[in-house]
Amino acid sequence: MKEQLLRVQEEALATIATATESATVQEMRVRYLGKKSDLSVVLGGLGKLPTIDERKAMGALGNEVKMAISGALDAREAELAKGELAARLAAESIDVSLPGTPAPVGHLHLMNQVRTKIEEIFIAMGYEVAESRIVETDWYNFEALNIPKGHPARDAQDSFFITDEVLLRTHTSNTQIRYMLEVAKGRTPVKIICPGRVFRRDFEDATHGSVFHQVEGLMIDKGITMAHLKGALTEMFRGIFGPQARVRLRPSYFPFTEPSAEMDVSCPFCGGNGCRICKQSGWVEIGGSGMVHPNVLKAGGYDPEQVSGWAFGYGIERVAMLAYQIEDLRHFTSGDVRFLRQF
Ligand code: DAH
Repeated sequence: MKEQLLRVQEEALATIATATESATVQEMRVRYLGKKSDLSVVLGGLGKLPTIDERKAMGALGNEVKMAISGALDAREAELAKGELAARLAAESIDVSLPGTPAPVGHLHLMNQVRTKIEEIFIAMGYEVAESRIVETDWYNFEALNIPKGHPARDAQDSFFITDEVLLRTHTSNTQIRYMLEVAKGRTPVKIICPGRVFRRDFEDATHGSVFHQVEGLMIDKGITMAHLKGALTEMFRGIFGPQARVRLRPSYFPFTEPSAEMDVSCPFCGGNGCRICKQSGWVEIGGSGMVHPNVLKAGGYDPEQVSGWAFGYGIERVAMLAYQIEDLRHFTSGDVRFLRQF
């Protein structure tokens, strides 16, 4: 029996030494120490030994073998576990010095980019950015701007009236009056640019919307002429469309300016040679402008005998469409990121 026990031990220790994974060591524990192991089978013969001394001696040896095998299993397992942990840590380690994956960030909506650009052009010339009300009274939106009763723009068909006297402003020109009366209060010069949202009862199509943006310009001082207007407009359109842009003023009519002029810019597509966009004219219409009407200056608390001024106003979407070759106004409010990402 002694030989059998020693053989069992020898074989077990040799095999345990070859284990390469802690899972295998678990299996070996069952194989070498379990109920059906060779060791158990050999020790099962203890009772058949002739003398009590032999039984004692073999029992003790059996225990030693069991301890030796169990010790070897523990040691091998610990050793392998250490290696496996090290390997796992190495595999899962994170290099904190690697550059991160950038989180996607948005950017300003094209409308706001163009608006900001226009503001910056004027801020560079010493203008102030002024904003006023979107919900406005008839007086600031029409009356003070010399828009007489019965004028088509006052028609409920064209404007969103809230009450008889209150409406959503139809243009940014209300800010001319608000600024003169509430901010400038008679001082000169007045040099402002007024961007903002305006509202019209219009059927929506590729070039019309019921909510859109305008920017208004106003300059008041002693001795202001249309030459100053043209200078400011040229500076603005060169900033937006590039240094080759030219401005043309065409006689027109607005109640709040006298004289009044439509302002055109040389076609940004063909440079003025004539193309489909400018209908071969070489010019595209941007908006309105003129010398501030004496009645408007008076409504704003200024004496038209002492000072004069120019003003202009136009739709920002239209300018953005021309500058970025966008064919449909509705893209601006579609919320479609495939459109927005391009700018
Ligand atoms: N308020 C006009 C509109 O909404 C645009 C405009 C024309 C503004 C001439 C002005 C101007 O300041 O002088 O169509």
